Amino acid sequence: MSKKYVIGNWKLNPETQAQADTLAGQISEQAALSRCILGVAPSFVHLSSALIHKSTYWVGSQDVAAKTATTGAFTGDVSAGQLKSLGVDFVILGHSERRQYHAEDNRILAQKLQCSLQAGLKVIFCVGETQQQYDAKQTLSVLDEQLSVFSDVLQQIQGAVLIAYEPVWAIGTGLTPTLAEIEQVHQYIKDKLNQLGLTAHVLYGGSVNAKNAAQFASSPLIDGALVGGASLTAQSFLDIAQAFEQAFE
Ligand code: PGA
Repeated sequence: MSKKYVIGNWKLNPETQAQADTLAGQISEQAALSRCILGVAPSFVHLSSALIHKSTYWVGSQDVAAKTATTGAFTGDVSAGQLKSLGVDFVILGHSERRQYHAEDNRILAQKLQCSLQAGLKVIFCVGETQQQYDAKQTLSVLDEQLSVFSDVLQQIQGAVLIAYEPVWAIGTGLTPTLAEIEQVHQYIKDKLNQLGLTAHVLYGGSVNAKNAAQFASSPLIDGALVGGASLTAQSFLDIAQAFEQAFE
């Protein structure tokens, strides 16, 4: 039976190192999970807090340099090699907030994907349509375009690809698609990457919380969750993880 993944995207939170330290410490005291892999992705400055408390969870970054996987004259950047040597396990790429506020397009994302894979980081690659695209029934064509990045890096990918399907209109809004809609999209992503010879684990993201997690966890097509707001409280984050853990029983 394949693993489930519950990943917390802390975004630009919390404000202080002491708060990051407390949150990471509380998450590290989790009850043992045998089937669910937990991960947290703090901002760069809080990576050390997550790494100090690292027990069984993965630690990820929310961004990585595009121009090099190692070192160079790139002021303000943090490379995949630096992250790897720090003990970081994965990087989140393609998040809609990076696409929107930092103009990250397929060209930049392909470079970041390549650098991350070269340095041996796992990648959680986010895709998803806006409200307008959803209303215009363009979800699948938007995904085709966003997933085309993988055609460039096929040779570098070993093992499974982790994709997070995050409809932009569901992020931080309390809105979610129906389970049937999510399942249809997840099946589409799996089939699409399968045609490229890749196996995809597809997580759902967008307003996942401790109350609705069990519903998502019940679907064999949902391989986990990428959680924003609800990952900032250890209790709700761990409740979501428990929902995925128990979905197997
Ligand atoms: P949310 O964010 O859970 O707060 O909706 C999810 C995300 O942006 O990854």
